[in-house]
Amino acid sequence: MPKNQQVILKQHPEGEITADHFDVIQAELPELKPKHFILQNHFLSMDAGFRQWMNENAGDGYLPGMQIGSAIQSIVIGEVVESDNDDFPVSSIVLARTAWEEYSLLDGGDLCLLLEVDPEMELYHYVGVLGTTGLTAYFGLFDIGQPKQGDTLLVSTAAGAVGNVVCQLGKKAGCRVVGMTGSDEKCDWLKTEIGIDATINYNADPLCDQIARTCPTGVDIFFDNVGGSQLDAALQNISDNARIVLCGAMSQYENNSPEPIYNSWPLITHRARAEGFMFSDYQAQYPAAIKELADMMKSGSLKSFVNIYEGICSTPQAFSDMIGGTNRGKCLVKLI
Ligand SMILES: NC(=O)c1ccc[n+]([C@@H]2O[C@H](COP(=O)([O-])OP(=O)(O)OC[C@H]3O[C@@H](n4cnc5c(N)ncnc54)[C@H](OP(=O)(O)O)[C@@H]3O)[C@@H](O)[C@H]2O)c1
Repeated sequence: MPKNQQVILKQHPEGEITADHFDVIQAELPELKPKHFILQNHFLSMDAGFRQWMNENAGDGYLPGMQIGSAIQSIVIGEVVESDNDDFPVSSIVLARTAWEEYSLLDGGDLCLLLEVDPEMELYHYVGVLGTTGLTAYFGLFDIGQPKQGDTLLVSTAAGAVGNVVCQLGKKAGCRVVGMTGSDEKCDWLKTEIGIDATINYNADPLCDQIARTCPTGVDIFFDNVGGSQLDAALQNISDNARIVLCGAMSQYENNSPEPIYNSWPLITHRARAEGFMFSDYQAQYPAAIKELADMMKSGSLKSFVNIYEGICSTPQAFSDMIGGTNRGKCLVKLI
């Protein structure tokens, strides 16, 4: 009897996550219900942001906390194999927020996007540069960062999935792009593969000094994926009318006592603006943005970097590797 393999939470992580916090189980295949459809998932997206909802007593106004024994929430892409929902017919390709599992029973609510897949594009791009990752970079940078020619754009987790796309879009917009990451080797990768102007290894010299050296005219846009001391150091170096794009807080997800932010004063004296956003705020604009990003890829002005793990059993390792920083660009798991 065929089963639905799922990756479940075995225990809530305290601090650093490892593959041992997850289990792969054989669940029953979902049965189609009225107005629902069944998605056979092709790719699972490894999204760092979901890490925070794995903590004990996590959960907020945006998403519920994950429960022990439940399949891990995730963005996936798949093909509809059974349907009683006219909006999602059999054979359609759907990007959905569901779970790390082979088959998902969905009703089209929450985040479910029927995709028009460009025949020139590999499907996996739609969980990377053309998926929620690229859309996060696109809307965060253009809507909140509002880049202008000659701006200095500082990006944290610059070598990661969202970060490398922000760097590339920033270069296209005429910014001088400075990327922060955790090793010299990743700094080299950012310079040679992404072509940014300068890099900072945040584990080397004091961060505030490094930012001051690499951004001598000040930071006009800080695209922040990390929070904590990286955000604080960036705030000490902002220019007048700076825009702080609050996208994520990697340094806080595995930290039981959140780090304080000390440098709010420069926000005032520099008339700066710090604004958070969620990629899901922009759903009505996804199709146009995906087309624009796909056109950039076809013209060669936007590159896609992926780390693909094979098979659902590799998911726990893929996720903990990505949080640990082994990835360059997007990390995902291929199921079929
Ligand atoms: N607002 C939204 O709608 C939205 C949507 C998607 C993602 N996000 C946010 O975007 C950020 C990046 O997500 P992603 O999926 O693209 O992941 P990613 O950047 O591909 O991978 C996570 C990276 O975070 C860095 N990191 C891990 N632990 C850290 C720590 N304690 N301090 C500093 N850096 C640490 C590592 O890179 P280094 O080696 O460079 O440190 C690691 O590679 C996350 O904060 C996520 O929450 C926000």
